[in-house]
Amino acid sequence: MATGKRILVLNGPNLNLLGKRQPEIYGSLTLEEINREIETLAKELGVEVSFRQSNSEGELVGWIQEAPNEFAAVVINPAAYTHSSIAIRDAITAAGIPTIEVHVSNVYKREEFRSHSYIAGAAIGQIAGFGVNSYLLGLRAAVAQLSKA
Ligand code: DQA
Repeated sequence: MATGKRILVLNGPNLNLLGKRQPEIYGSLTLEEINREIETLAKELGVEVSFRQSNSEGELVGWIQEAPNEFAAVVINPAAYTHSSIAIRDAITAAGIPTIEVHVSNVYKREEFRSHSYIAGAAIGQIAGFGVNSYLLGLRAAVAQLSKA
C-alpha cells in the first residue's frame, strides 16, 4: 500500500499560464484548478501531494535533487525542458525515486521537435495527450508503482 506516502507534482516553464495559454491545445483549466483535481484524487488514493511550478531549469533541478528527502515519487510535466534538458534528466536519475512524466497535449501529434523527450529515458513512463487526466493518470501510475515497491 502507498497510503500516507508523499508525492511531489512538479510543473515546468509556462505552465503557470495554463488556462490562458493556447487553450485550443492546453485546455481552459488553470494550473490551480488542475492541482485541486489532483488533490481530490490524492485524498481518494490515500497519498499526500505537494505542488511546485518554476520557469527556471535550475530551480526544478534543485527540487528534484531534494525530492528523496521528503517524497516517495515525482509526477513531472517538464514542459519545454522535456525537449532540451539533460540537467533535469540527470537530476531524475540521481534522485532515484519513481518519476512519471506527463504532458497535457499529445506531443507526438505536434511539431517534430516535441517528439523527443530527454526525460523519458529517466522516467518510469510517460503519459501525454489527456489534458488534466494526464496528471490524474500520472498520479495513479506513481501510486501503483509505490504499491509494487
Ligand atoms: C507540454 C508540451 C511541451 O512540448 C510544451 O513545451 C509545454 C507543455 C504539455 O504539457 O503538453 O510547455 O509539456
